Order: sequence, then C-alpha cells, then structure tokens
Amino acid sequence: MFLDSKDLQSKKVFDLVKDDYQYAKVLSSFGIDFYNHYNENLSELCTSKGISSDKLLGYRKSINESFDFGNDVLISTPINLVIEYLKHNHNYFVKNKLPYLQNLINNLPLNKSDLEFSKDLKFIFPIFFEDFVQHIYEEENYHFEYIYKLFNAIQGDINASNLFIMMQKFSINKILLEHINEDSEMEGIRGITHNYSYAKIKDLHLKVIFQELKEFDDELSIHSDIENCILFPRALKMEKKVSKILQSISYQN
Ligand SMILES: [Fe+2]
Ligand SMILES: [Fe+2]
Repeated sequence: MFLDSKDLQSKKVFDLVKDDYQYAKVLSSFGIDFYNHYNENLSELCTSKGISSDKLLGYRKSINESFDFGNDVLISTPINLVIEYLKHNHNYFVKNKLPYLQNLINNLPLNKSDLEFSKDLKFIFPIFFEDFVQHIYEEENYHFEYIYKLFNAIQGDINASNLFIMMQKFSINKILLEHINEDSEMEGIRGITHNYSYAKIKDLHLKVIFQELKEFDDELSIHSDIENCILFPRALKMEKKVSKILQSISYQN
C-alpha cells in the first residue's frame, strides 16, 4: 500500500500530499511546509534539505501504527496506569497534534475559492484550542487527582480528613454526567466544515486541514470513550468503596 522509495522520489510534492495527506505531516516533522514546495520533485527536495527518502517513508509507515490502544486491554489495566495513558494522550494532543493544525491554519491563504471555510477556521480554531486546554487542565488537576486519591485509599494510604474534604467537593457521578453531556468541543468545527466533507474543497492546503481535523476528531472520540466507559465507571465503584471505608473509620472513633 505504501510507495516504495523509487516511486516516492519521482513524485511531485503536490501529488504526494494529494494522494496521501499524511505526507504533509511527515514533511512538517522534517521542517518542510508542503504548501511551499508543490512543484518540486520529492528527490530534489530531499537532496536540497539533506534528508533521505527512506527516512520519510519510514516515518510515514510509523504513522499508521494505531492510536487506539484497545479498550480490552485498558479494562483490566490498573486505574493509575489508565490515567497515565490518558495523560499521555493529552500531551500528544496539546504538544503535537493541535500545534500542527494551528500552524496549518495560520498559514492558510485566504483564497477566493474556499474563502468562508478559511475565514471561519482561522476564527474558531484558536478558541477551540484554548477551551480544549482548559478541559485538559481540569481533568488532570482535579478529576484525575481525585481518582488517584481514591485509588491510594483503596491501596491502604488513607488520610481520612483529606479524603472527606475531597469527597464533599467532588462526585464521580456528577463528573461523569457532565463529561457525557458536555457538547463535544469539536461541535463548532464539525458544523463549519460540514462534518469534514472535503470532496468539493479545491485547495489542497485546506483539504489537508479538513482531513487532519477529522483524524483528530476520531482520536478524541476514542479518548473520551475511555474516560466515559472505563475510567469514570471504575472510579465510581472505587468512590463507593472508599465511602464505606470512611464510614467504618468514623464508627470506630
Ligand atoms: Fe481527557
Ligand atoms: Fe475529557
């Protein structure tokens, strides 16, 4: 399914990215903005930048290694490791995926053909990015922290007064319901891109952005499902257990 190194070298950058948008990301990771090199042959570009095409191909293949870790594995993974996995996702979204998208959108020219899409994306994406970072901040600093405390309590590390205060403040049921009912942060972007329908988009740069946004939306859905279907339901059971432990401590005193 992948082009071999020889076929790859003879391709123009425009055709390479048109046939497989992932090459835009591959080139970007080598410091090359694909939209500035449309007419260059890949072998010329590699020579001028001192990169081997084998490296490009190798990196392209590694992208296909799935983002989805597999929920079957996570169901039986200790909850502290599930949290670490989710934090790893957060880090990848905020430090890798979203800055790449933001950079693509910032450099998107305001062409006449798809002007409305381009203008809307330039407006909405930074707002989305900010909201998303806030969502992650709350999860990591409050919700995950609370779940960690519950986990530690079940392991025998009980600070009763501290736990009591946290359990007054947080409720996993409430966190779960809010998380499920929260309008997906991607809703606005889905709306303005008509659910990432890129078939009629003429500009390749914009087409790549639509495809990347769709990929991010899919990854985010997998991530949210892990939170909604694995993390919070398991935390709910832990919260009930800890509440019983605290009750028994208060009876003893
Ligand atoms: Fe998350
Ligand atoms: Fe979340």
